[in-house]
Amino acid sequence: MELSPQHGQESSDKAIVAEHLCKVFNVTKGILRRTKTQVVAVKDVSFEVNYGELFGLVGPNGAGKTTTIKLLTTMLIPTSGNATVLGFDIQKDVTKIRERIGIVLGGERGLYTRVSAIDNLRYFADLYGVPVNIRDKRIKELLQFMGLWDRARDRVETYSKGMKQRLHLARGLIHDPQLIFMDEPTIGLDPEIAKETRNMIKELVEKGKTVLLTTHYMFEADELCKRVAIIRNGEIVALDTPSGLKKYVMDASVVEVEGFGITEKEVARFREVPEVLAVSADLSENKQVLKIQTPKGSEIISEVHEILKNSRIYDIKIKEPTLEDAYLRLVEGSVK
Ligand SMILES: Nc1ncnc2c1ncn2[C@@H]1O[C@H](COP(=O)(O)OP(=O)(O)OP(=O)(O)O)[C@@H](O)[C@H]1O
Ligand SMILES: [Mg+2]
Repeated sequence: MELSPQHGQESSDKAIVAEHLCKVFNVTKGILRRTKTQVVAVKDVSFEVNYGELFGLVGPNGAGKTTTIKLLTTMLIPTSGNATVLGFDIQKDVTKIRERIGIVLGGERGLYTRVSAIDNLRYFADLYGVPVNIRDKRIKELLQFMGLWDRARDRVETYSKGMKQRLHLARGLIHDPQLIFMDEPTIGLDPEIAKETRNMIKELVEKGKTVLLTTHYMFEADELCKRVAIIRNGEIVALDTPSGLKKYVMDASVVEVEGFGITEKEVARFREVPEVLAVSADLSENKQVLKIQTPKGSEIISEVHEILKNSRIYDIKIKEPTLEDAYLRLVEGSVK
């Protein structure tokens, strides 16, 4: 597929520069909607993305990922702060930015399912002003790249989830944007298709595109991203390469307890232990797993026995922290 190189004629040497971005939503509550409150969705967010970089924004539900993307893609106006995208101001150069960026959303938003993939892409190509003489050639190339050419004339409603997601990617690329924003591009996909989508994203970056993506999954950011910003309650709490982020937690070990009959109350008691930095628990299955991050390492085992004296313990392992553990600790806010 022919894609133009990402580096534009634009003045900035950074693809994205976000400076102290804030977004506050005014919301009304109550039956009569008379109670007014404010939701601070994004609070003083600053970061930069280089050309050709795959940059990840990772955080839990409601952290402010989508709001950040909406601000950068000119779909929302910041309450304060500002940003440039491809060297253009998000408040003053709305059209210039929109012409040059691609947006890929997860799920089924934004496709016309009653018509074919080709008709969808023609519609969006016309919307973006792609010249007619290159339009159909580009549509064919994109659909070939996405492995959809064989089905290009079928109605989109007959496509599998993965095919729809690939069409989403094609849609986001139809005007050959330099920079692509992807909001949870693998959400709702089964593991195989999610992997396929990640490979597509990697290929785009190999071809010189710049990508900013959001995800809930640290392993996804680890696999794809050169640098990752972890966002929590609207604030960036860490920004580094995946291996850099891991170093944040190297001062602790992870004590992994496998057991049965462990309750939420007991998990909460671990959180109160002063040397415990983070605790995660999967209490759903027959074999429950509790992960305790602590610099005490094996010294905490006596406390484990004490707190879990009414539960069954099958196994206790001391492990090195993984990136997932780093994320947990950063999101729980206990990195000191
Ligand atoms: N239009 C809106 N009006 C009021 N509050 C909003 C609006 N959009 C987002 N919010 C709030 O702002 C906060 C951040 O939301 P946002 O959608 O950016 O989070 P997110 O990180 O994308 O979450 P998710 O992982 O669930 O997609 C949340 O508390 C959300 O409820
Ligand atoms: Mg979101």
